[in-house]
Formats: sequence, C-alpha cells, structure tokens
Amino acid sequence: MRLNTLLQVFIAIGTVSLGRAFGQRIKSRAECASTVALSFKEAQHYDSVYYDPVNGSSFDGSFWTDSNTMETLHLLMLQTGRTDFDGLADTTFLGQAALIPFTDWSTFTGPFVDDAGWAVLALWTMADYKAAHGESNVADYFAAAATVYDFIASNWDDTCGGGVWWTVDHTYKNAVTNELFLTLSAQGYLRFKNETYLDNAKKAWAWIEGSGMRNSQGLFNDGLEFGTCVNNGETTWTYNQGVILSGLGALYAATGNETLISEAEITIDASIRNLTVNGVLKESCDDVKLEGTPCDTDQGIWLKHLQYLITFANVQSKHPELITKYGSFIGAQSAAVQHTATDRQLDIGSVWYGANQGGSIFSVQGLASGIMAHAANAEYGPCN
Ligand SMILES: *[C@@H]1O[C@H](CO)[C@@H](O)[C@H](O)[C@H]1NC(C)=O
Ligand SMILES: *[C@@H]1O[C@H](CO)[C@@H](O)[C@H](O)[C@H]1NC(C)=O
Ligand SMILES: *[C@@H]1O[C@H](CO)[C@@H](O)[C@H](O)[C@H]1NC(C)=O
Ligand SMILES: *[C@@H]1O[C@H](CO)[C@@H](O)[C@H](O)[C@H]1NC(C)=O
Repeated sequence: MRLNTLLQVFIAIGTVSLGRAFGQRIKSRAECASTVALSFKEAQHYDSVYYDPVNGSSFDGSFWTDSNTMETLHLLMLQTGRTDFDGLADTTFLGQAALIPFTDWSTFTGPFVDDAGWAVLALWTMADYKAAHGESNVADYFAAAATVYDFIASNWDDTCGGGVWWTVDHTYKNAVTNELFLTLSAQGYLRFKNETYLDNAKKAWAWIEGSGMRNSQGLFNDGLEFGTCVNNGETTWTYNQGVILSGLGALYAATGNETLISEAEITIDASIRNLTVNGVLKESCDDVKLEGTPCDTDQGIWLKHLQYLITFANVQSKHPELITKYGSFIGAQSAAVQHTATDRQLDIGSVWYGANQGGSIFSVQGLASGIMAHAANAEYGPCN
C-alpha cells in the first residue's frame, strides 16, 4: 500500500520542521525505479549543461523559473532519499543570498509579488533537504523565507474584498499570486505552527473562493479587472490550475476540512477535461507547428502541485483514492514528455501533446518542467 505517514510524523516530532517529516516519510516508500532513474538522468543533464555554480543560476534562466527548478531538484532528492545534488543548495543564488544577512530581496524579486512566492517554496524545500540530512544553515534558509513571505503578506489589502497584489505597483490582483500566498500560508502553518500563517491561509482561500476567478468550467482565469473586480476572462494557464491544488491540500492537512479536497478535484477534473489534447496537458498557446506567440512551459508546475496535493491529502492515508484516480494521468504526462517532447540531447520541449513540427520550444525552463512531470510520476504514477 502506498501509505503516507506525514501526519503521524508531524505528531511524533511536534513542531520540528516539515523537512524532517519528509525525510522520515520517504524511507517507508518505494518509488518506480525506472522513473526515478529517468528523473535523475534529466536532472543530471540540467546540472551539467545548464547550471552555473558560480552565479548559482541557469544559463538562460530567470528568477522565478530557476526558483522552481531548485525546488524540484530538492523535492526529487527528498522523495527518493537520494543525495545526487547534495551541496547544491548553498551554491544556488537563493542559497547564497540566504546566507548573507540583510539581503535586500527586492533586488531579486523586483516589483513581482508572485515571483517572491516561488522563491519561498524553493528556500523551504532546500531547507527541508538540509534538515533531513542534518546539514547546516537550515535556520538561515527559514529566516530568508520568512522575510520574503512577509513581503508577500504586506501586499494584501481590501481592494476587491481582499487578496495580495501581483506587483508592488498595486494595479492587478490575479490568481497565481494569491494561490501561492494560500499554499505558502498553509504550508507555513504545517511547518511552524504559527497561527498567523493559518489565519492567512483561511483568509486567502475564502477570498479566492469568492473572487469569481474560477469560471463555470472550473478553471481559474488569470485575474480580476482593475476597478470592477470581475473575472477578466484571460488565459487559464496550467499553473493557475496547479498551485491551487497544493494550497487546498495543505489547508486540508491543517484543518481536516474535507470540502477542500472536493474543491481541488473540481479544478483537476476541469484541467483534464479542458486543458488536454490526446490526454496530455496543453497550454493554450502550445502548438506543434510554429505559428503565433511562443508559449510557456508550465505544465510541470501543474504536476508538481498535484503531487503536493496528494502528499498533503494522503495524511493518515485519508485519500489514497487520489492516487487511484489520477495516477495514470500523471503517468501519461511523464510518458508524453519522455517519448514525444524529449530530443536526442535530453532537452525537453514545451509541447508535450504531439510530435514537434517546429512549434515546440526547447529551453532550460522546458527541461525543468519535464523533470517535474517525471518526479510526480516517480512518486504517484503507475510503474511501467
Ligand atoms: C549566470 O551565468 C550564466 C552563464 O553561465 C548566464 O547565462 C546567466 O544569465 C547568469 N545568471 C544571472 C542571474 O546572472
Ligand atoms: C508568525 O509569523 C508572522 C508572519 O511571518 C511573524 O511576523 C511572527 O513573528 C511569527 N510568530 C512567531 C511566534 O514566530
Ligand atoms: C470547509 O471549506 C469550505 C469550502 O471553502 C467552506 O465553505 C466551509 O465553511 C469550511 N468548513 C469549516 C468548518 O470551516
Ligand atoms: C470545457 O469542457 C466543457 C465540458 O466538456 C465544454 O462544454 C467546454 O466547451 C470546454 N471548454 C473548452 C474551452 O474547451
């Protein structure tokens, strides 16, 4: 049985960090060996070809996508118990900045509140890895994450009834920034048992739920019109359907409110129904042919946050049915990445749903996105 003992571990270790919990959880799990091997093969390719340990960033990367990649490499090590990238954290630009007291994080995030959210996820996951292996500087990572989290929280106000702004210019309230705030707040409570985080998580979900950003199909549009605060009907990016899942899962783990799992399933099912072709996730701007504007590479983020949802929801083995229900879909995404989107150099393109006819963009972000699919498959997909 694919038991997940996260909550028992929480109870057993009291307020010790989630990292310890992850570390201990992993030992009881067996993951699919061939998918684990594939995940690390791609991760090694990223490390050897794209990662620059001097500036701690990716060749051709960006602040928020690099943060996502760093989170993923450490999540992959945590879930498998492997140590392939041990020592990497302190070389990353996030780790370097966390180890310098009084880092001015605004030089990294610029005006973007959403970008700060990805950085907190990365800092926590790197801290989790270090904690699980008894390594030093864990407190520095948590302190840095707390500073960045407080910056995000300070961008909440009552315009449109609540919500954090997308940027410090306070001109747009959108889905992804608030979904990140939800997941950080709920996960922050699970880690630190600090009620401020739980209050923020409840407040963030109540606001998101009532905001009208989720449309009648069950998908989150990009955000709200300035002034009128109505759903702007803009792109239902895959990551908007993904980050909400980990947020609802973590809030469920904190409160035991079963409705939150049903709410998550509404968006998962809508994504599978409306954002796929041939059973494979397709960003709306994806096209196998080269036409129109190039697309992003965020389907992996959807999968990573579904993976988190299953982990959080499965505490005390309460929701093993999520694995039964979505495991084969996760497996199909990873298979599409491997067989359709990956080229001979092991690079991974943005288009997963069909064979590339010139429209698939190969980038370091695409590579990281594919690794996220394989990692989710290693933990919860069927082994084939
Ligand atoms: C880090 O160095 C690489 C080249 O090795 C470069 O492509 C990348 O833009 C640099 N990143 C930053 C944030 O300076
Ligand atoms: C709880 O978290 C808030 C927000 O980050 C912080 O201001 C406060 O100091 C924390 N409280 C404790 C007891 O750590
Ligand atoms: C559980 O979550 C649902 C969905 O957000 C909410 O309507 C309900 O009030 C919550 N129940 C409790 C007891 O907080
Ligand atoms: C989404 O799925 C619903 C139900 O199958 C369908 O009615 C609707 O047209 C779909 N929308 C898009 C944009 O594909």
